[in-house]
Amino acid sequence: PDGQRATLEQLAVDLAVEAALFVHGGRPQDLDVQHTKSTDLDVVTVMDERSEALLRERLAVARPDDAILGEEGSGVSAGTSGLTWVIDPIDGTVNYLYDLPTYSVSVAVVVGDPTRAGAWAPVAGAVANPSTGEVFSARAGGGSRLRRIGSGGLDPTVEPEVLRATDVDDLGSVLLATGFAYDRERRQGQAAVMADLLPRVRDLRRLGSAALDLCHVGAGRLDGYYEWGIHPWDFAAGVLVATEAGAVVSGLEEGSPPSRAMVVAAGPTTHRLLVGELRELGAGHPSLTAD
Ligand code: IPD
Repeated sequence: PDGQRATLEQLAVDLAVEAALFVHGGRPQDLDVQHTKSTDLDVVTVMDERSEALLRERLAVARPDDAILGEEGSGVSAGTSGLTWVIDPIDGTVNYLYDLPTYSVSVAVVVGDPTRAGAWAPVAGAVANPSTGEVFSARAGGGSRLRRIGSGGLDPTVEPEVLRATDVDDLGSVLLATGFAYDRERRQGQAAVMADLLPRVRDLRRLGSAALDLCHVGAGRLDGYYEWGIHPWDFAAGVLVATEAGAVVSGLEEGSPPSRAMVVAAGPTTHRLLVGELRELGAGHPSLTAD
């Protein structure tokens, strides 16, 4: 029921905002790169770990029966409710490291198994960007909205803004965003596809936070977005914000769900054009997607 989803959305917002303010405030002191993950380019700061610990702590109290899948954890923790919280404690860690104001905390709650493509669906989610004081959120069947963060948390005095994605029917007018894998070789192939696509669109952005890219599609600030190799914690909340704002989000194959292989998001007409173009350029080749 919608009331239950609204409660979950509110919790996702509160958690994302609290963790976002925490990482924002902790940035000047705690910037050490703890270690690298998938490749030497995939960094983890101490604040990624502390933010995830904070979110896990809060969820253990508020939702003890739900499972958790986090970027910095290993696997899905056990739960009995059928719901899993999918969390990215800092999405855009490289921006965070360089003090570029495009990083976020992404919190989603999903039904099903988020480790298997197509076996889950988001119920509610929120993405908070502490640098701009924005929090995007959505719940299944309940639309997407943008609210403002004050100094101590969500600003209750600002009315939520209902989000609506664009739908551009001419690829040449599309402002598009993408991202690149942390694997250097894979990047070369991804850049080759992008080089062919670039002259066909209005322009291209590489903002550095997949969660925010998807929210920007929902907010009509971008006309489209695609990326290979991102994880459910990067896209679970953003996919819901985009789809509830009227965008279509899928993989590259006919009828395929968004997955690590590919996420394409845009208004319905733009989405069709973009998927066609990406297929034609060979973007579905396995060497370009993640393992
Ligand atoms: C990264 C960001 C980036 C995308 C990468 C992601 P992280 O997430 O979303 O925009 O291009 O593929 O891994 O590592 O900062 O959580």
